[in-house]
Amino acid sequence: MNYTFDEITNRVNTACYKYDLKNKYFNTDDITPMWVADMDFKVPGCITDAINKRLSHAIFGYSYQPDSAYEAIINWILRQHNWKIKKEWIGFTPGVVPALNLAVLALTKPGDKIIVQTPVYFPFFTAVKDHHRHLTVNPLKLKGGRYCMDLKNLQSQIDSKTKMIFLCSPHNPTGNVWKKNELQELVEICVKNEIVIVSDEIHADIVFKPHKHIPTAMISDDASENVITLMAASKTFNIAGLSTSYFIASNKILYNRVNRWVEKLHLTMGNIFGTIALEAAYRHGKEWLEQLIDYLTGNIAFAEDFINNELSDIDLIRPEATFLLWLDFRRKNIPGKQLNKYIEENARLGLSDGLLFGIDGEGFQRINIGCPKPVLEKALLQIKHAFNSVR
Ligand SMILES: Cc1ncc(COP(=O)(O)O)c(C=O)c1O
Repeated sequence: MNYTFDEITNRVNTACYKYDLKNKYFNTDDITPMWVADMDFKVPGCITDAINKRLSHAIFGYSYQPDSAYEAIINWILRQHNWKIKKEWIGFTPGVVPALNLAVLALTKPGDKIIVQTPVYFPFFTAVKDHHRHLTVNPLKLKGGRYCMDLKNLQSQIDSKTKMIFLCSPHNPTGNVWKKNELQELVEICVKNEIVIVSDEIHADIVFKPHKHIPTAMISDDASENVITLMAASKTFNIAGLSTSYFIASNKILYNRVNRWVEKLHLTMGNIFGTIALEAAYRHGKEWLEQLIDYLTGNIAFAEDFINNELSDIDLIRPEATFLLWLDFRRKNIPGKQLNKYIEENARLGLSDGLLFGIDGEGFQRINIGCPKPVLEKALLQIKHAFNSVR
């Protein structure tokens, strides 16, 4: 079946974060929003069919995750990532960000140090600080257009209070798919120092050829004992509003400690429609996903061409995964704190400000290209005109 991703769907007045909160976040309605990380594409019919079927039952009492949902996850992870997991390693959570917070509560104590590698998805910071843990920042290094982990610096920062690292794999906002040797070296350091790796792999299914996502837990036996993996169908199939995700931990002690927090906060029942959507997507959504990845690959190629030819002093960090592009505006010489506003006012675009992702995001902006190509084309033209007309 052929899916179309060119259709423009009006999302206004659907209690939509990206469109209906433009005023709250940008103080204007007159922008095209290309910030929060969901896509402007309709989900595949397998998801709406499954939800409609359940909807017509018309009773939505307390629910739980049936065996079939676990089975769908196990099969998906095997097929996508060649990782053989077991039902008893899987626990459900109402989102990956909630799961990051639960892992912190379950596995560390106030005053413990947790490492993050910047620029990074900003809820990583609050998941540490909101629980009075200490944030240790290990900046990534930009080398030849690709970000790398600075493992030497990481090692130098570790002390007896360092208990956890948040790994973003693939990495938001830089689009890295971490390579085997990078993961191996990181795992080795963490195992040696008894640092639990919380591996946020929410973007694992949107990866561009020839890159291949490797679940951190698969790196070695030591890794599998030391990692909690956080995953979801939400980014992959554009169902983030259904608040459903899961964690995987083969280490029973880690599993039980996190799951105990899920129970303590009474989060176990999940969302009926979220569970149904996840199962339908994982059972029947593969063809749609393949076509989505092709479409996004086209969007990225278009953006790269446009930037190289028309915006030559803006640099694109070529993404290996995700529908988020990390753009380097530093050669424009606009002060970092003014850049997002400048683009809002002159290009009428709502982008995610690089500074949100840490101090090393200064001079960068993140643009969401999970949209029909005509929308992207128009946005890039608006950027071009914004810089041509004034500077
Ligand atoms: C790395 C990463 N983790 C988690 C999330 C959000 O997860 P959830 O909506 O399941 O809390 C995002 C969304 O952009 C993300 O990029």
